[in-house]
Amino acid sequence: MTSPTRNPLRAGLHMPRTPDPCALVVFGATGDLTARKLVPALYNLARERLLPMGFSVVGFARRDWSDEQFRAAMKDGVSKFSREPLQDEIWESFARDLHYVSSDFADPAGYRRLGERLTKQDQAHGAGGNRLFYLATQPTAYAEIAQNLKEAELSRVADGSWTRLVVEKPFGRDLESARKLDRSLGAVFRERQIFRIDHYLGKETVQNIIVFRFGNGIFEPIWNRRYVDNVQVSVGETVGVEGRGGYYEESGALRDMVQNHLMQVLALVAMEPVASFTGDAVRDEKAKVFHAIMPIEDIAGSTVRAQYTAGAVLGEQVPGYRQEPGVAPDSRIETYVALKLTVENWRWAGVPFYLRVGKRLPKRATEVAITFKTPPLQLFRQMGSEGPTPNLLVLRIQPDEGISLRFGAKVPGTRSDVRPVNMDFRYGTSFGVEPPEAYERLLLDAMLGDSTLFTRWDGVEAAWELLTPVLDAWASGVSPLRFYEAGSWGPDEARTLMERDGREWHRM
Ligand code: BG6
Repeated sequence: MTSPTRNPLRAGLHMPRTPDPCALVVFGATGDLTARKLVPALYNLARERLLPMGFSVVGFARRDWSDEQFRAAMKDGVSKFSREPLQDEIWESFARDLHYVSSDFADPAGYRRLGERLTKQDQAHGAGGNRLFYLATQPTAYAEIAQNLKEAELSRVADGSWTRLVVEKPFGRDLESARKLDRSLGAVFRERQIFRIDHYLGKETVQNIIVFRFGNGIFEPIWNRRYVDNVQVSVGETVGVEGRGGYYEESGALRDMVQNHLMQVLALVAMEPVASFTGDAVRDEKAKVFHAIMPIEDIAGSTVRAQYTAGAVLGEQVPGYRQEPGVAPDSRIETYVALKLTVENWRWAGVPFYLRVGKRLPKRATEVAITFKTPPLQLFRQMGSEGPTPNLLVLRIQPDEGISLRFGAKVPGTRSDVRPVNMDFRYGTSFGVEPPEAYERLLLDAMLGDSTLFTRWDGVEAAWELLTPVLDAWASGVSPLRFYEAGSWGPDEARTLMERDGREWHRM
């Protein structure tokens, strides 16, 4: 028996997981993201003893809060949103290292105060000047904050220490604004210091796409145009805009989900094998996929956009998008998108990739469905279907995380009838542990300087290059806005998009 090659260069998945001592500065620390996601994630890292000694957090925001008020608000956030219940003892020890600086993002004096605070903490904790700046503000403030960090000399990297910048999405709202933002951040930080968050990449099941493909020998040989008929990436949400009407009016589903989360998942499904699971290796391969996606020529025929009207979701009456707070009564923003892409490379030429995402659908589910080509001959009688039912591989990203493979099996009896059955893997049953939240993994990786699960500028730019023409065409009336009732699976036109190709959406 041969054993797999051992190569220390391939150790990306096994790197030591204890970061250097450092300070995490969160800009916009009084906002929703900090209390809902960031601090609960840090608390869970602390609980699992994954934070370094000498770690501290400094919240930076306009609100006139003291350290104590900041701690109280964060405690409230952890009690409500942590995946593990708050334990007082762990909280007390963690909260001692939470601090707060109140300042306007435009005020240089605030950055000086921040600098003094950090120096004091460095001395107290021996953090060695390592800093992780996290932009959790409105994106309009990003460039200004970066510039002010530079002017206060906080972006300067002292000998033997590091400074990194974590940027939340959205990274721009079209190609031009994304490039402008990239230039502003690039004037202060180098690309390798910039960690652009796409929280989908922090999800266990999304990372498992790579493990499934390249950690097994049997799938890769059939992962191509010879065997695959089509690939579908679907994200269904039951929620509406959750009080974020103002943000969503500026965004819409294409910017909010497709440009980032869905494109990233598509790239992981479509990319070539990597030689190591490290920073640039994965991102190089993803970039090649982005560049192989053909510009969408027939925007009217290949894209569908729609908005939900009032209806019932999970048995509850919900208002239409236009009735949500902060939304214009005649808004033309899409809450649903379906589109078809082609990846024109050796592996995928001719295989359509269909993406769809929608709010207020009947079910919360994210999945990748890969339909294989049917066998060349129909030797057996298929029950309840026209021709042979194709094999289908479904990677369930959330909830009910798992993987299932559909194949035909003989129905017991004296005839040779075939019926599709499923082979099913469930994370919960197989591992019995709850996976960490995406932000736990991503915050830890940023502290470790591991950028594998963060998006690189070339990938972000390529996604905007592909989708900005769609936004422009939509703005000029191409592919009119459709409507769908909340609680339905989206507009009829999304079904037609598939039917025209002789296919259908996988039922989630
Ligand atoms: C965010 C979007 O990035 O992702 C939200 O802004 C969306 O609109 C959310 O609801 C979905 O994330 P998840 O992890 O719940 O699938």
